[in-house]
Amino acid sequence: RSALRASMRSGAAPSSRLFSSSAINNKAVAVLGASGGIGQPLSLLLKNDPLVTKLSLFDIRLAPGVAADIGHVNTPAVTTGYGAEDNGLEKALEGAELVVIPAGVPRKPGMTRDDLFNTNASIVRDLAKAAAKVCPKAHLLIISNPVNSTVPIVAEVFKKAGVYDPKRLFGVTTLDVTRASTFLSGIASSHPAETIVPCVGGHSGPTIVPLLSQAKQGSAVKAGEFYEKLVHRIQYGGDEVVKAKVSAGSATLSMAYAAAVFSNSLIRAINGEGNVVECTYVDSPLYKDQGVDFFSSKVTLGPEGVKEIHPVGQITPEEEKLLEACLPELSKNIKKGVQWVSENP
Ligand code: NAD
Ligand code: LMR
Repeated sequence: RSALRASMRSGAAPSSRLFSSSAINNKAVAVLGASGGIGQPLSLLLKNDPLVTKLSLFDIRLAPGVAADIGHVNTPAVTTGYGAEDNGLEKALEGAELVVIPAGVPRKPGMTRDDLFNTNASIVRDLAKAAAKVCPKAHLLIISNPVNSTVPIVAEVFKKAGVYDPKRLFGVTTLDVTRASTFLSGIASSHPAETIVPCVGGHSGPTIVPLLSQAKQGSAVKAGEFYEKLVHRIQYGGDEVVKAKVSAGSATLSMAYAAAVFSNSLIRAINGEGNVVECTYVDSPLYKDQGVDFFSSKVTLGPEGVKEIHPVGQITPEEEKLLEACLPELSKNIKKGVQWVSENP
């Protein structure tokens, strides 16, 4: 990750270590929703990742144009764009090992992520159906909101197709960790890359649970009003962007960065690198007894996807309260997704 980050930050050529591993491990990535606010910069960042060797861009508009543009970047990934015509979706998914899905509508001010459910559920369901058919063994990285519900929707589609592997389905919650790192490092005057704040739970205001006590710099924020403000800023960082963009959408560029970081971590783990850990929303045993079948926590990634799901660990009474507020909301969001697929198969 640090090599990718360094090359992204400096614009320098990625290290020869990364180039040599890409020569051994071919990695085909498909982006569904590749022409959108997230899709375009994410596709560019994936093209800039030397571990990606094939990049297939699908969207219902503009994807061949985006691919033609990005394809001129002189990195190894062979890039092709597909529209909906001529079985474009299936062609884009052919041979994909990672399928990244940022397709769907974003929020406008005053909306919650759950308000996107009616539109995005069917988009995600249909894309998942195609993936279950064409590349059932691919790792699926879900960005489309509401993530708390769209991930269970994908799981149900894969179960119905008889190809569900819980180790290969991820809700991308990396943006929460990215924001928490940025906001805390601003307070603690630390380097953001060294300021790691695990965020557990889900991906919506009340379900995002930042564990500041587990960050080395967490003690820079004393309990009380200051702590509460920081927690609120991490939980509602998405709203900050929605408001600042004044009806033009939600976070796209920071999200593209976060998804590129997560994709790179997963590819490195698939390629055999050990000890790759990211927070991600997965089919998790941690709170199943409370009706929460999906939960984000630290996950060690490996060649098959999820290798080990880590419990939240020791947390403070304040964090315990946040977790108590998260679990019932998360359970509701998950059930909504599962029920919707059963009624709209
Ligand atoms: P956008 O409207 O700019 O782009 C969405 C793209 O999806 C468009 O290009 C559109 O043509 C495409 N699309 C729509 N239906 C499609 C289909 N059936 N097949 C393929 N492509 C299709 O939106 P955006 O800002 O890129 O956001 C996309 C989604 O990501 C939203 O739901 C948003 O809420 C979510 N999001 C999630 C996170 C996160 O942390 N997980 C962060 C930011 C945004
Ligand atoms: C985010 O956290 O920025 C995304 O989930 C988009 C949103 O709707 O806030």
